[in-house]
Amino acid sequence: MAAVGWLWCFIGVLLLNWRWGLSSSSLNFRGNTFTMALFADLHFGEAASEEWGPLQDVKSQRVMSFVLDAEKPDLVIFLGDILTANNMVCHNATNYWTQAISATLQRNISWASVFGNHDDMSFEWPVDWFGVAGIPGEDNIDHYFRGTTRAELMAHDMSFGASFSVKGSRSLWPSVSNYAMQIFSQNSTNLEEPLLILYFLDSGGGSYPELISARQISWFHEVASELNPDQRVPELAFWHIPTQGYVDIAPPPGSRIESPCVGSINLETVAPQVVELGFMELLSERRSMKAAFVGHNHGLDWCCPTKSAGMMYLCFARHTGYGGYGTWTRGARIIEQLNELDIWDKIHSGGVNGVYNV
Ligand SMILES: *[C@@H]1O[C@H](CO)[C@@H](O)[C@H](O)[C@H]1NC(C)=O
Ligand SMILES: *[C@@H]1O[C@H](CO)[C@@H](O)[C@H](O)[C@H]1NC(C)=O
Ligand SMILES: *[C@@H]1O[C@H](CO)[C@@H](O)[C@H](O)[C@H]1NC(C)=O
Repeated sequence: MAAVGWLWCFIGVLLLNWRWGLSSSSLNFRGNTFTMALFADLHFGEAASEEWGPLQDVKSQRVMSFVLDAEKPDLVIFLGDILTANNMVCHNATNYWTQAISATLQRNISWASVFGNHDDMSFEWPVDWFGVAGIPGEDNIDHYFRGTTRAELMAHDMSFGASFSVKGSRSLWPSVSNYAMQIFSQNSTNLEEPLLILYFLDSGGGSYPELISARQISWFHEVASELNPDQRVPELAFWHIPTQGYVDIAPPPGSRIESPCVGSINLETVAPQVVELGFMELLSERRSMKAAFVGHNHGLDWCCPTKSAGMMYLCFARHTGYGGYGTWTRGARIIEQLNELDIWDKIHSGGVNGVYNV
């Protein structure tokens, strides 16, 4: 009888994985803590055909190595724009992806990835290539200039054993990085109630419009109701492009970031998705939803509470890569989940000043 029970549990877990895009293996707290490092907007492969592009990727590696050694996170979250695909001359986006995850991979740290608007953008032909000098490397023209799709990139990411990323349900396509992940207590297995639930969403851009679709919203509603029906387990959500909800609570650009907000950079206007279809309303109705994290705006790193009763925080990560616009000090947002949510903001400053708290 006991064996049958176990078998049912096992089948139940498999079904859940298949239905909800859950990661099949699980991660655990270390003692009472689970630490996550957000690497946002790495933009690997920017200016791939120029000398300076690959050099700035080396600097991005240094930032990530520094943060990983200082913080020893249990999970890295690649928060989109891992690549600048529109600058890639060749069909080797997966090689740049491997570079982007390599500091994490070498340290045997688990990770989860979501897509940004640049990861599957198609190649943008430089106008000056149409001058007298012509297109460089024309002998290789056959295999040049073919983009790499979200599905191909995700299959590549998932081919690494330490990846917890999931290619979400086909019913949500063209949106791909939609999945949930449960984090369990130190000694428990994925058959017990988790201590933390993470949701990852694909906010579009690149090969299709920048939005979270109505289908994704109903997917989120179903999976959250199934995994956390009584909203007891704390939840966090991650996607790349801010929603209208961020615009609504943003401190005026250029102003000081004041309590109850935290952060250190507020030098841009929020660049939201093209449409808001009710996702924020759904999130803010969940008292278990503690915070959401996005990248995209390199000149913002604040975290502000919404006015909803549950007091969810809406946070920007921190521009981690040397690729992409802006020269603000690179860094990573670190989330330390204790028994209650505790958002730490630690910023790497060029390897000189080390890590400090804001
Ligand atoms: C997990 O198990 C180990 C070894 O049995 C024990 O020392 C530790 O306290 C447990 N951790 C938790 C959070 O219960
Ligand atoms: C991508 O392909 C180009 C041309 O073959 C090559 O110069 C470059 O090093 C490749 N990049 C990676 C990351 O493999
Ligand atoms: C890497 O991490 C996995 C999962 O935590 C573990 O099973 C494996 O032994 C680790 N490998 C090394 C080389 O440390």
